[in-house]
Amino acid sequence: MKKLSLILSVAAIFLAAKSEAQTPSLRDAFKNDFLIGTAMNTWQIEGKDTAGDRLIKQQFNAVTPENCMKAEIIQPGWDKYNFELADKLVAFAKKNNIKVNAHNLIWHSQLPAFMHHMQSADSVRQYFENHITKVASRYDGKVYSWDVVNEALNEDGTLRKDIFLDKLGDDYIVEAFRLAQKAAPHTKLYYNDYNIEQPKKRVGAIALIKKIQAAGVRIDGVGIQGHWKAGVVPMADIEESIKEFSALGIDVMFTELDLSVLPNPWDKVTADVSETAQGSAKMNPYTKALPDSMQQLLAKSYADLFTLFMKYKKNIGRVTFWGVNDGQSWLNGFPIRGRTNYPLLFDRNFKPKPAFYSVIATAKK
Ligand code: XIL
Repeated sequence: MKKLSLILSVAAIFLAAKSEAQTPSLRDAFKNDFLIGTAMNTWQIEGKDTAGDRLIKQQFNAVTPENCMKAEIIQPGWDKYNFELADKLVAFAKKNNIKVNAHNLIWHSQLPAFMHHMQSADSVRQYFENHITKVASRYDGKVYSWDVVNEALNEDGTLRKDIFLDKLGDDYIVEAFRLAQKAAPHTKLYYNDYNIEQPKKRVGAIALIKKIQAAGVRIDGVGIQGHWKAGVVPMADIEESIKEFSALGIDVMFTELDLSVLPNPWDKVTADVSETAQGSAKMNPYTKALPDSMQQLLAKSYADLFTLFMKYKKNIGRVTFWGVNDGQSWLNGFPIRGRTNYPLLFDRNFKPKPAFYSVIATAKK
């Protein structure tokens, strides 16, 4: 009996390895076009998700830490830094020939608790300078790029009224890039945000980038997050954005791509992590499985998007998915907790979905 089960499990491993070897690889398919990335969660960085790690090595040549380089984790106290996970991520990437996009230096969300009570502008400035300098210099030459500033804009293109704008004034973004440039001279520096493909917010992003450039400070690229919805991807706005951002002489990236298949509780589209909504059965229609019609809609939306990305491959540096498999996506918890979403290319068992093959097909055209 024991012998039989051993034979069966060896056979299962063999078959799994065989089917994996036959699966095409995104990183190979797009190797002459742009980098293909994924967000890496803490389990994956710690080596506890072996199936996830195997898939990352096989499919991706870029990773972004989903959380572990955010301020609340990497600098939990005024004088306290925690580089353990970030160092592990960097080592994993180096070993597997994967580029790291570090995420992020300055953002209004996921700030350490001590920042929430900070009143004096001097303290905020000191935090700001220390944080950028210490963290960016540690990883210079070890990471490929930094999201220097994340989500600084409102939907109407004005600057978000967060603690940095409030205490440091309008120039804080230029200052953040200036400090990052000094601390990390060998690292590409990016501005990253959601909805900046939308006309009003895009105008704000362009003004911001021009302001940084006019100050003689380096900015190498812009990241459009790409948290969209299957069937209603804003294709024309995305195309226009690629053209307008490229005209500024910088790289364009799609940095957190996922396509939700679930109903939106609002009539607005947002990726602001502080927004939440009430759940209901109507808001969570596919708890058992995704119907075939939705599976096809998702595959079609991904095919359309990647067809567009291929058209502009000269301008696009990287396309990164926000997570490895559907079960690991933040969209199971945002903006409503406990839903079952299917926004990525791999299902909950790490199997490629029809959307995976529709993306691969765009590379061959
Ligand atoms: C999300 C992570 O995926 C979650 O695990 C975390 O709880 C909240 O943040 N825009 C960003 C990302 O720039 O950092 C956010 O990531 C998603 C929206």
